[in-house]
Amino acid sequence: MKILYATSEAVPFCKTGGLADVAGSLPPALAEQGAEVAVVLPMYQRVKERFGSQLKFECYDFVDLAWRHSYCGLFSLEKDGVTWYFLDNEQYFNRPDLYGYIDDGERFGFFSRAIVRMLPHFQFWPEVIHCNDWQTALVPIYLKDDGVREDRFRSIKTTLTIHNIEYQGRFGMQTLGDLFGLDQGWAADGTILMDGDVNLMKGAILCADAINAVSPTYANELKMSYFAHRLENIMRRCEYKLSGVLNGIDMKLYDPATDQRITANYSVDDLEGKNVDKAALQRMMGLREEPHVPIVAIVSRLVSHKGLDLICEVLHDMMELPMQLVILGKGDRKYEEFFHWAAQQYHGRMAVRLDYNEELSMAIYSGADLFLMPSKSEPCGLSQMIAMRYGTVPIVRETGGLKDTVQPYEAWRDAGNGFTFANYSSSDMLHVIREAVYLYKDYPDAFSRLRKRAMKCDFSWARSAKDYLRIYANITGQPWPSVEPEKVEEAASVVEEATPVVEEAAPVAEEAAPVVEEAVPVAEEAAPVVEEAAPVAEEAAPVVEEAVPVVEEAAPVVEEPVPAAEEKPMKKAAKKTEKKSVKKAKKDEKPAEKPEKKAAVKKTAAKKETKKKGPAAKEKKEKPAE
Ligand code: GLC
Repeated sequence: MKILYATSEAVPFCKTGGLADVAGSLPPALAEQGAEVAVVLPMYQRVKERFGSQLKFECYDFVDLAWRHSYCGLFSLEKDGVTWYFLDNEQYFNRPDLYGYIDDGERFGFFSRAIVRMLPHFQFWPEVIHCNDWQTALVPIYLKDDGVREDRFRSIKTTLTIHNIEYQGRFGMQTLGDLFGLDQGWAADGTILMDGDVNLMKGAILCADAINAVSPTYANELKMSYFAHRLENIMRRCEYKLSGVLNGIDMKLYDPATDQRITANYSVDDLEGKNVDKAALQRMMGLREEPHVPIVAIVSRLVSHKGLDLICEVLHDMMELPMQLVILGKGDRKYEEFFHWAAQQYHGRMAVRLDYNEELSMAIYSGADLFLMPSKSEPCGLSQMIAMRYGTVPIVRETGGLKDTVQPYEAWRDAGNGFTFANYSSSDMLHVIREAVYLYKDYPDAFSRLRKRAMKCDFSWARSAKDYLRIYANITGQPWPSVEPEKVEEAASVVEEATPVVEEAAPVAEEAAPVVEEAVPVAEEAAPVVEEAAPVAEEAAPVVEEAVPVVEEAAPVVEEPVPAAEEKPMKKAAKKTEKKSVKKAKKDEKPAEKPEKKAAVKKTAAKKETKKKGPAAKEKKEKPAE
């Protein structure tokens, strides 16, 4: 399986947020599972400065973006079994920051266009391009646009990961042709149009072969208006190809037993070092050195969706509890000012650093006892996983990835790995903080067992990488992993647990009908429902779920899965896209000649080709790699 992972940031090269952590860890984890993986990033100034000497210059070419004709250099670096590509254009990327410029739309328009046009220069022709957030959302759109004229682009499947739906890449309508070089048809049929603007995220959600959120709960939440920032209807419409894959963390980088960034190392079997780290943190932050008072910590961007209003509301009640409070982060001024002011009221018991400081964050993860994350929404959240790894027990609101990673403490059966509350309510939050603080103070043994359960959680990337490989397998029609006969039973039970495959499998289920029929009678009914109309998949989902394990097994039997997978779910979108793109082609080439008739002929021809092309296209796509 050949995967090209397209991202606007990745650790260790460039980072502003969680996307970089994911993009730094997932590709190597995919490679470890046996996939061929390359990552493509912009060549920012900081990449050139820090990694310039290690980069190999591959070649350069010119990329057309609307009327622009710009230089694009290609650099590469081999690391962790992955080829990391960097696309160079100094005008767009040789700047101190990654984002926040007035021409961000043009910069990432160029980046996405360059990814597609530079494909012949990469080491392989990808089977899947995995895009992330709005910055690479144009890739599936460009592939469809170019695919009408160039067969080879049609062989590539796309998947889009939504890390945060709040940032959608919205630009004025005039950018469609002038900036992104797309035909009006893309707006006319609504694919890329939202509330009168160009909306890149919406376009990618409709055009990608699969979409996923960074946790199963967030995938569900995206269908609700409270979370989806006006894209809920689109998400519901695309439910048939939507899944949730929980992020992981780098378990080697975040390991209290070996981490060189913390004062003393420790492990789940010997927690002595954690006490040393706690004392060090108290000294560092000017807190009283009280070993038996629990430290509650917050490491967060200080922005409203992190649920900080709840803390502001009951801070004084919190400080009446026998606890200390540490806050690290920067962001909105109102929170910065409030926390700064509050810390002065509780000298020695509350400390605040309005900063982004990796070293201090590690001292907090290792030295604190409880980690507070009352987010209003949280697509996945990585810090609660890091905190758990360091034995700092999380207190979270049940939303997104927080709900999927933290199971509430249950005293009666000594279970759970943290504390949770459901409603966005400060009194509910205060209630569980109180519960946590008193468990620490009054029942140290129970708290210690809880802490150890949190530390033992497996948040490694291997699990998520397998889920992504299943998604790739579903959209390409390739079996993955190749199932050995004696392992069939085992594989089936694993697949059953995997939410991601469920919706993806739906279109394939139809092809696999004869096999499904035999094994799971329910699937017989499921297939026609899915076939009838993709949007109805909402109701069909539970039924199709039953069919999943069998579909996975059946996959190798299906002889020509590629055209089938492409044709069914994308039928409508593809039709639309072709129509519109053919219109553009027609316009570009011979605007005078009976446009409608010609477009219709071309459309049928292109369609026939898509249907027939499966294996042929596959052969063709290998060529550029040579
Ligand atoms: C975004 C989300 C965060 C998630 C990260 C990585 O930053 O806000 O919750 O963990 O992406 O997917």
